[in-house]
Amino acid sequence: MQPKQSIVHLPVYQPGKPIEDVKRELGLTEVIKLASNENPFGSSPKAIEAIQAELANISIYPDSFSTELAAAVGSYLNVTAKQLIFGAGSDEVILMLARAYVHPGDETIMADETFSIYKHNVQVEGAVCIEVPLKDGTHDLPAMLAKVTDKTKIIWVCNPNNPTGTVVGKDELHAFLKQVPEHVIVVLDEAYFEYVAEEKAPDSVALLGEFKNLVLLRTFSKIYGLASLRIGYGVGHPDVIHFINQVREPFNTTRVAQAAATASIQDQAFVAECKARNAEGLRYLTGEFERMGLHYFEPNGNFVMFDTKLPSTQVFDGLLRRGIISRARWAHYPTYIRITVGSQEQNEKFIAALEQVLQEAAVLG
Ligand SMILES: Cc1ncc(COP(=O)(O)O)c(C=O)c1O
Repeated sequence: MQPKQSIVHLPVYQPGKPIEDVKRELGLTEVIKLASNENPFGSSPKAIEAIQAELANISIYPDSFSTELAAAVGSYLNVTAKQLIFGAGSDEVILMLARAYVHPGDETIMADETFSIYKHNVQVEGAVCIEVPLKDGTHDLPAMLAKVTDKTKIIWVCNPNNPTGTVVGKDELHAFLKQVPEHVIVVLDEAYFEYVAEEKAPDSVALLGEFKNLVLLRTFSKIYGLASLRIGYGVGHPDVIHFINQVREPFNTTRVAQAAATASIQDQAFVAECKARNAEGLRYLTGEFERMGLHYFEPNGNFVMFDTKLPSTQVFDGLLRRGIISRARWAHYPTYIRITVGSQEQNEKFIAALEQVLQEAAVLG
């Protein structure tokens, strides 16, 4: 038995530590998970209602083309159903893009560091990842452009970038897209788009009219609070979406997820409220980091990456013992931690725990 050579050395994805594991391992009764950029305010009550109504139908396969959801998303974004592809999370759309467009030996370009799933899927296909260092925590688009060759198939731009939270400017993005050759697909991953302040968010849907090689990724896992239902989508030119559809599994999203997502996109009041509460949380957290003299990258999503000035694993462990799950171990940022914006109560508990950990380290150090 021989697996594909391209996967032999791949790591198994390590998600944020689950709450139940931490409770059991450390004997804690209260644990706050601020590790996976989930929505601390839950999901829309309209989504819950839709889920409950759909439960009666779960013995029937779902609609392979997510027709109702495509109509709802299409009308929200002002695009046609032929421009949309749905996946089991945007993770699956990333997988399908790699499967449809990347051959062994092809090249794809991405930032270093960025969301790890691009690299994973490109490597599964036996293709080459050209990783371009971030500049001050932000995508260095000119440097990425300079890496384009005849073999380049996809450039991945994560906006806001996970883990740093930075965004590329609207003008910079437009200038970049104008210079990318037509044979290269640009994937603009906008998993956190809905959190971005209006003046900073590019009108990426409008850019689709100008650039046939642009594919946007959005998800219902973040601000819409449907992470466990696994539903996300891609938006692009119908020809590109057609090819992605050709590698899609027939029933890749569930009835329950489609129903919940349809109700969710129609409840923009919930989204607006979460956006406002997240902005408040960001103001609080960044204010506290400033008070403590800790550097952070300008956050535009629902998370902040900040410098603990200590080995981040030490701070991660200290926070964990106090019931806070964070995210550490960033290859190029060994002293940085990424923390999801929680509810105000969670944010205050996190800051109190962080101060204790840092004080303990100062005493011990
Ligand atoms: C930048 C980015 N893209 C995509 C995803 C995938 O999200 P999902 O598969 O839940 O839609 C995530 C999840 O954390 C993310 O941070």
